[in-house]
Amino acid sequence: MGNCCALLKSIMGFATEEEHDGRLPKQKKVKVVFVLGGPGSGKGTVCAKIVEQFGYSHLSSGELLRKEIKAGSEHGTMIQNMMNEGKLVPSDITVRLIQKAMQETDNDKFLLDGFPRDEENVRTFEKLTKIEPDFILFLDCPEEEMTKRLLSRNQGREDDNIETIKKRFRVFQESTLPLVNYYASKGKVRKVDAARPVEAVFESVKTIFSSANEQGA
Ligand code: AP5
Ligand code: MG
Repeated sequence: MGNCCALLKSIMGFATEEEHDGRLPKQKKVKVVFVLGGPGSGKGTVCAKIVEQFGYSHLSSGELLRKEIKAGSEHGTMIQNMMNEGKLVPSDITVRLIQKAMQETDNDKFLLDGFPRDEENVRTFEKLTKIEPDFILFLDCPEEEMTKRLLSRNQGREDDNIETIKKRFRVFQESTLPLVNYYASKGKVRKVDAARPVEAVFESVKTIFSSANEQGA
């Protein structure tokens, strides 16, 4: 096994060619939509509806990280501390989890919810997967509304307290919004007014995904 393969394996937890009993690792041509929006903009809620109607698989980077904490992984404590501070977890950890989940899923259409959040996320993802998103679904919602939703969510999330929420907003403004603007300059962003009730938000989202289907995007 060459150094390059060894490195890839150690970073990504990949099986190498030899370990697939001579079979090549499964190569999939996949469609990916990045679903971005501030904390509490409704990413998880709308993704669940897109899954039902359009047959995508939903991968939330936040959920994958929370599972990693619950599973007691070697990075669990560090991930927990960073999430409690509203900080971004290192890209190689998040991308490895996403890529593993994609490989384990027998589907070719993915919603990446809450990913990417900064330029480093994008660089790591492109380098390791060579995947370019079809488009970016951006849920645009004022902080006041998002705060209200997060404080009444009641799902026991440790980061749903007002201090951490403020930090999450700041990270979104400083790291993720510039990324949304970058993709917008390339014509890749489909923006939705996410301050409306769920059904109204989903009506707009349906139009976007139906038109993407028609264009074979
Ligand atoms: P993550 O879990 O992704 O949290 P988030 O981005 O803060 O967003 P939420 O999951 O809180 O909200 P949501 O937009 O999914 O809204 P939801 O549908 O739940 O990330 C958590 C942390 O993990 C990050 O802070 C970071 O530390 C780390 N992390 C994650 N990704 C990372 C990455 N790529 N790189 C590095 N670190 C990463 O809705 C919220 C509430 O509002 C619900 O109660 C819902 O019922 C309600 N609601 C939804 N839509 C509506 C509506 N239209 N009207 C009224 N109520 C609504
Ligand atoms: Mg979510």
